[in-house]
Amino acid sequence: MRRARPHRVRMSTLFGTPLPLVLAPMAGPGTPALVSAVCGAGGLGSLAGGYSAPDAIRAEIREVRARTDRPFAVNLFVPSEAAIAGDARLRDARDALAPYREALGLDAGALDVSSPSFDAQLAVVLEARVPFFSFTFGIPRPDALDACRRAGITTMGTATNVAEARALEAAGVDVICAQGSEAGGHRGGFLGGDAGSLVGTMALVPAIVDAVKRPVIAAGGIMDGRGVAAALALGASAVQLGTAFLRCPEAGTSAPYREALARADETSTTITRAFTGKPARGIASRFTREMERAPVAPYPLQHALTRELRAAAARAGDAELLSLWAGQGVARARALPAAEIVASIAREAGLTR
Ligand SMILES: Cc1cc2nc3c(=O)[nH]c(=O)nc-3n(C[C@H](O)[C@H](O)[C@H](O)COP(=O)(O)O)c2cc1C
Repeated sequence: MRRARPHRVRMSTLFGTPLPLVLAPMAGPGTPALVSAVCGAGGLGSLAGGYSAPDAIRAEIREVRARTDRPFAVNLFVPSEAAIAGDARLRDARDALAPYREALGLDAGALDVSSPSFDAQLAVVLEARVPFFSFTFGIPRPDALDACRRAGITTMGTATNVAEARALEAAGVDVICAQGSEAGGHRGGFLGGDAGSLVGTMALVPAIVDAVKRPVIAAGGIMDGRGVAAALALGASAVQLGTAFLRCPEAGTSAPYREALARADETSTTITRAFTGKPARGIASRFTREMERAPVAPYPLQHALTRELRAAAARAGDAELLSLWAGQGVARARALPAAEIVASIAREAGLTR
């Protein structure tokens, strides 16, 4: 068995932040205000750019920099080759959504499935020279990783099993984020299919720590100082938390989403493809239950097909049709300002007094 590592020293050299705590990138609820609040409290904030147009990412980076001079990360979604669907499959997926659209007063919906270009998004990250670039769903092309290296940007990739961690290390990625199956939001796996991407954090972190030489960040189900202490004891150099910050006033979480979070317990979440075409963990709802066997287009096409529906559901305050991404630790998410959450977690974990 490996001995525990001297995490705190590793962490401060790794991120240049006082605390080994990373705010997970959260496409949707992750605002520049939340990112900068976590940075200001001593953690590393991550801006989620995966769904955003390059100009929007540029504007959000500027906003974070106006609020804090601490380091932060920008996160993108690595595109996959499988994002092509025949017309028939797209039409079936669109038709399966028709009753929900109708209930919200929307028409049948166009097959407009465009999404932002990864290369254009990455160009903004490079141009802004953000200190950290994190990503999920795969490994960027070697030329993209080279460009980050040349720009002095530290790269952080997501792994849900040892094979993915080894592939990231072999590609020269600097830091590996081990995402356990408890995690809220999308599964970041890209090798091994659905079954191979559902290892729990407690088993995944030591497996990856033992398999690679790169520093490992633990993610999934970590909600308080106890979870942080456990992850560091398992050999993680830092810990990434998403769900723990969803109820912060700085988060862009909508009112019906907040109400669902406040009611949820450890049995409330499920993994569904119905919103985006990729498996993601969120609070179960009428939509996730009814769509279990419905035709779904591959990611990111399904995300584009459900975009209007989700926006209309948010306007109508209908949580049953919203993507309510959350991890299994959701019942321990505190409705407090981000800085207070960071300070409490650091105290509970014995990182500060
Ligand atoms: C609302 C929400 C949105 C998320 N969006 C992203 C994202 O854009 N990019 C990403 O790499 N991970 C995303 N994740 C996953 C997180 O990076 C992380 O793995 C997860 O939050 C850790 O588990 P926890 O939620 O139990 O803390 C998201 C998670 C949540 C809860």
